Amino acid sequence: MEIIRATDYDDLCEKAAVMLISQVQQKPNAVLGLATGATPTGIYQKMVADHQERGTSYAGVRTFNLDEYVGLPPEHPSSFAYYMRKQLFDRIDLPLAQTHIPSGIAADLEQECRQYEEAILAAGGIDMQILGIGMNGHIGFNEPGTPFQSVTHVVTLTESTRKANRRYFDEGETMPSHAITMGLATIMRSKRIVLLVSGKHKAPILHRLLNEPVSEDLPASILKQHSHVTVIADADAWDQ
Ligand code: F6R
Repeated sequence: MEIIRATDYDDLCEKAAVMLISQVQQKPNAVLGLATGATPTGIYQKMVADHQERGTSYAGVRTFNLDEYVGLPPEHPSSFAYYMRKQLFDRIDLPLAQTHIPSGIAADLEQECRQYEEAILAAGGIDMQILGIGMNGHIGFNEPGTPFQSVTHVVTLTESTRKANRRYFDEGETMPSHAITMGLATIMRSKRIVLLVSGKHKAPILHRLLNEPVSEDLPASILKQHSHVTVIADADAWDQ
């Protein structure tokens, strides 16, 4: 794993945005793997600013998101589909038809998982996958104990993940208990992976990732077996 130290969150976002923008400039029909959550929002802002100011075009790009909650339609404000439209898709020239997010409301969720996996393969695989990391080491919604050979599947969210994501739901609203996520094997098939670690609350998991052996108890540790992974961590995340 290549490790890049960013001075702060803005620097982390700048470095990651430059990687994504360069990827799209080098390969205008690149396949990008995208994440939601708090960490990538600043990156998407920088991509939007670059699109507006310098005209980087996403007209030929295809995207696959890591995950989606089961039971939330794409117009639900807490869905990842809604997040992606607001943060990025509606603000650049990327046709929505070229964006992919698992459907959490598919009648047959198992079939949805199979089709999602097939769609990634049919697109030629992911050129660059962006990842955040959960406090328990999850990537996507692959919680500790997920088999390394897992492909896109339905997961039961752990209490810690539900607690961490509770803030994205209205008070009194029931939080989904399940999600669809790319599996660890799906993520590992990406040609290049960029893992983002930001904030003091991520310092313990960054420390574990860098110091513990590869194990299914620490899902992100599988990334050490990939030949082209870049970890970008800001100063707060390094502050052990
Ligand atoms: C999001 C995802 C998750 C998050 C992780 C970190 O699509 O798959 O693995 O990347 O939970 O979330 P934040 O960035 O909110 O700390």
